[in-house]
Amino acid sequence: MRGGLTRRMIVASGLLAVLIGATFAILLSSVGQLRDSTARARQSDEVLVVANRLERIVVDLETGERGFLITAEEAFLEPWRSAQAAFPEQARALERLVADNAGQRARAQDITMAVTSYIQDYSVPLVDAARRDPGSARDVTVIADGKLRVDAIRTQFDRFVATEQNFAVTRQQSSEAAARRAIAVAAGGLGGSVLLIVVFAGYLTRAIVRPVRRTAAMAGRLAGGDLSARTPDHGAGEIGVLERSFNTMARALQEGREALTASRARIVAAGDQARRMIERDLHDGAQQRLVSLALDLRVAEATLPRELPEVTAQLARVADGLAGALDDLREVSHGIHPAILSEGGLGPALKALARRSAVPVELDVDIEPRLSEPFEVAAYYVVSEALTNAAKHARASVAHVEARAREGGLHISVRDDGIGGADPRQGSGLIGLIDRVEAMGGMISLSSPTGKGTALLVDLPVKGA
Ligand SMILES: Nc1ncnc2c1ncn2[C@@H]1O[C@H](COP(=O)(O)OP(=O)(O)O)[C@@H](O)[C@H]1O
Ligand SMILES: [Mg+2]
Repeated sequence: MRGGLTRRMIVASGLLAVLIGATFAILLSSVGQLRDSTARARQSDEVLVVANRLERIVVDLETGERGFLITAEEAFLEPWRSAQAAFPEQARALERLVADNAGQRARAQDITMAVTSYIQDYSVPLVDAARRDPGSARDVTVIADGKLRVDAIRTQFDRFVATEQNFAVTRQQSSEAAARRAIAVAAGGLGGSVLLIVVFAGYLTRAIVRPVRRTAAMAGRLAGGDLSARTPDHGAGEIGVLERSFNTMARALQEGREALTASRARIVAAGDQARRMIERDLHDGAQQRLVSLALDLRVAEATLPRELPEVTAQLARVADGLAGALDDLREVSHGIHPAILSEGGLGPALKALARRSAVPVELDVDIEPRLSEPFEVAAYYVVSEALTNAAKHARASVAHVEARAREGGLHISVRDDGIGGADPRQGSGLIGLIDRVEAMGGMISLSSPTGKGTALLVDLPVKGA
């Protein structure tokens, strides 16, 4: 046997949990990557902003200084001074931002050094000299030298910014790729999980729900009396055990019922056989002897001398008694097994029953061919017992008897308009009928509500004899 249900459930749930867990782990790591590359892309933006600010500071330095040299107005030195003051902090900020990239860090340091040198070695001395001697600084070569220096610095800036922009593009691309990956993983994970759950549900349905429902339906059929019901018994684990146990139980029930039916049929047949033999013994033995005794008596009566009138009267009384005893005996042997049934068939036998009944009978018989003997006997006893009950217990004014041979069956019903309340547990006649009818695979039903008469319905599965 393969694993039990519990183990299968644990394995299947575990598998599902592991697969869904793995999907979510991949999804989480993709989201993490996405966050990292987004953060790096944002860092590049910041670097570019700070570089731009630093370049403006250089421009402010240069224009302020040139304005002062040309006009000698102190007002031009205002932006020059604040640019000098702002420079070290911004330069440090830029170096900090690119600290994790060796190339950019070196470029930022170069820029810092170049600007520092421009301020200390060129701009400040030049402005000082111009203050001392306003004419000296208007020297064209000096100003051109400053422009060269500033151009060189701006070239450095251009290179720095271009490199950073390249980084930004790469980072943006990798961030978009990470986003696409995360979406793909999420969609795949979702689809995969749904698929797994569907597969799992399908497995549960196939391995457990469907077999259990099948077995429940089979149990319902068994309870309803259909003992031939069976279920496929190849289910997994305990389900298979359940199915096989159900089949074994159903088989045992069916065999038991078949054995019981057969034994009832044997008992009924043995009873009928015994009754037939008693009837024949009575008919051929006691009845014949009484008949010949009666004949002897008639002969004796005829040969008796007339002078003995007392003896004649006594003999006549004995002859009457003998005739009565013969009638009684005929009546008894008829009750044991009606000869008319064997001779004339069910129709005439039922007519005879109706004639003899103490309760008036309305008879409706529609049986053309002869039926096989056990069915005729059964039908006869059903009507006989029901009419006897109607006379004995029902206080009925009329009884309706119906007997019809229908397609594949014999249908008999006996109804009276008596007091009702018939109960097979209270006597032996009805229970005998139930045994007889069920032994033949027939159906018998009794309806006898108090005060509303009694109806006995019987169906026998019978073909013509
Ligand atoms: N047609 C009927 N009307 C009223 N009561 C009935 C009728 N048939 C049977 N009974 C009641 O049901 C009991 C059981 O009937 P039955 O099995 O035929 O036993 P029995 O006739 O030997 O008493 C009877 O004792 C009687 O009380
Ligand atoms: Mg009875």
